[in-house]
Amino acid sequence: MKADAIVVAVVATLAVYATVTWAQNADQRAGNTAPPAATLKAASDFDTITDQRNRSVALFEEAGKVLQHPRCLNCHPVERAPTQGDDMHPHVPEVAGGPDNHGMPGMPCNSCHGKANSMTLGDTVRSIPGDGHWALAPASMAWQGKSLGQICEQLKDLQRNGNRDLAKISRHMADDTLVGWAWHPGAGRQPAPGTQEQFGALINAWIATGAACPKG
Ligand code: HEC
Ligand code: HEC
Repeated sequence: MKADAIVVAVVATLAVYATVTWAQNADQRAGNTAPPAATLKAASDFDTITDQRNRSVALFEEAGKVLQHPRCLNCHPVERAPTQGDDMHPHVPEVAGGPDNHGMPGMPCNSCHGKANSMTLGDTVRSIPGDGHWALAPASMAWQGKSLGQICEQLKDLQRNGNRDLAKISRHMADDTLVGWAWHPGAGRQPAPGTQEQFGALINAWIATGAACPKG
């Protein structure tokens, strides 16, 4: 083999290795091994659970199908860089949240992510996600690789959740446009399960029953 052919072979091998490793780590980052959920139960489906704490936990576990969906997790990473796709591979090209979570100076998120989703002419990437506030969630709000119980505790912690009381958390989940993007993610992406309205109702019912967290 000529030297440049060897280089090509080595680079190709590394690329395959990196992809396989990321695919293996994806389940771990999602904190589970199940494929992303496609549907969501209604809050009223939990009325039959008479113990209030158990009902609260069950409601949060249902909402967790959204919270731990790749559409949300891709922007709530532990590393200070977003991930992409249902396998949550590293963002292409490589970008970082930077000093204010809006990207590095010279390559802010909004240099590519517009105010709304935009179509591309390509087949591999059919659309570029967009929203007026596109940014990476701060480190204290990282969810990837955490259990649902840990995410729950963190969500309620004013020190880590952007100083939001439960009423503000509820409003953010039900009304925020960046959160809402997950149900309208653009061509080529699976939306989060159910609707934002259903999700908001689950969160409200969870709060009304004492906002109990799953153990672990
Ligand atoms: C150079 C252009 C560019 C920059 C800068 C950029 N992105 Fe992206 N981003 C894209 C493209 C293109 C896609 C769609 C890729 C795909 O679907 O395979 C994307 C997809 C994503 C996704 C994946 C959505 C999903 O669920 O699959 C997230 C999250 C994301 N970007 C976050 C960010 C954040 C946060 C920043 C700033 C810190 C940023 N991006 C900066 C081009 C960019
Ligand atoms: C494009 C990136 C992006 C996506 C996609 C995204 N978020 Fe966020 N999220 C953020 C940013 C940035 C913040 C910080 C906003 C602030 O504090 O003002 C945040 C903060 C939050 C908070 C505040 C409290 C906390 O402790 O995390 C909640 C709740 C939240 N997001 C829920 C969601 C849910 C649910 C989804 C999916 C349905 C989602 N996010 C998808 C970027 C994103």
